Amino acid sequence: MKLAATALGPEQSDFVAEVTGVDIAKGISSANTEFIQTAIDRFGVLVFRNQIINDEQQFAFSEHFGPMELATGDVTAHSDRRLSMKVNDISNLDKDGNLLRRDDRARLFGLGNMLWHSDSSFKQVPARYSLLSARVIPKRGGDTQFADMRAAWDALDDELKEECKNLVCLHSQLFSRASLGFEDFTEEQIKQWQPVEQRLVRKHPQSGRLSLFLSAHIGAISGWPVPEARMYIRDLTEHATQPQFVYTHQWRPWDLVMWDNRMTMHRARRYDHTQPRDLHRTTVSDEVSSLEQL
Ligand code: OGA
Ligand code: MN
Repeated sequence: MKLAATALGPEQSDFVAEVTGVDIAKGISSANTEFIQTAIDRFGVLVFRNQIINDEQQFAFSEHFGPMELATGDVTAHSDRRLSMKVNDISNLDKDGNLLRRDDRARLFGLGNMLWHSDSSFKQVPARYSLLSARVIPKRGGDTQFADMRAAWDALDDELKEECKNLVCLHSQLFSRASLGFEDFTEEQIKQWQPVEQRLVRKHPQSGRLSLFLSAHIGAISGWPVPEARMYIRDLTEHATQPQFVYTHQWRPWDLVMWDNRMTMHRARRYDHTQPRDLHRTTVSDEVSSLEQL
């Protein structure tokens, strides 16, 4: 079967596409890799349905698209991990497969995924692509939303564009979690997650399009008073996440969604925490800091 990428709906004609004609479990040819690469350079989000894969197959597929990132952004101790370091555990389960208690630290930390963000923006070299595979989905809720940060940029007025272009933001997981009142970090994590600088406006190396690099991890703008910076980022985030820029993904088991963190933000939506929700994420790292992307 031939590969095809079909845009999902006219409003999102260059933002979200469904890719058909590929069986990720079987591995992909270089021609197919090239097809998918071209599609993700155009669309920020690709949806692959019915991909029954294990972690090794997911990792092998992801590796075609760049250097892999390890799950070093987690708070869970090594000995308590359910999945290997190659995979981010996006679930509400412990290592024995039991539901996390309501007040479990890993669960409360994981609630940070419900804030609009771009993956690993708190790392010097942030994430390029994320690939999220749905293994178990609750009956209701738990959608993932994506916002098109190129369209959000395009819609700003010229004056604001000029101002944004020169700004550098400070990103840290300590900021995003503090905004939820989560402060349960070890000394080591506090040291590890000191803020890193990222441009507020970046250029996509393939399409040449500009986008807003926003994320819940932002806690400051270089050279600005903190409350003014946070208010400014809140305003921009509100702008960038208006319905016309947003696609809502309703998961089916064995969906795999791949997105480009350089032109999107995403967030998880609420669901009943007494129901299991199990998604596995592999992450392709970028090769440079966003400071080098304008
Ligand atoms: C992620 C993430 C959102 C979700 O995997 O990076 O933010 O809906 N997931 O689980
Ligand atoms: Mn995420």
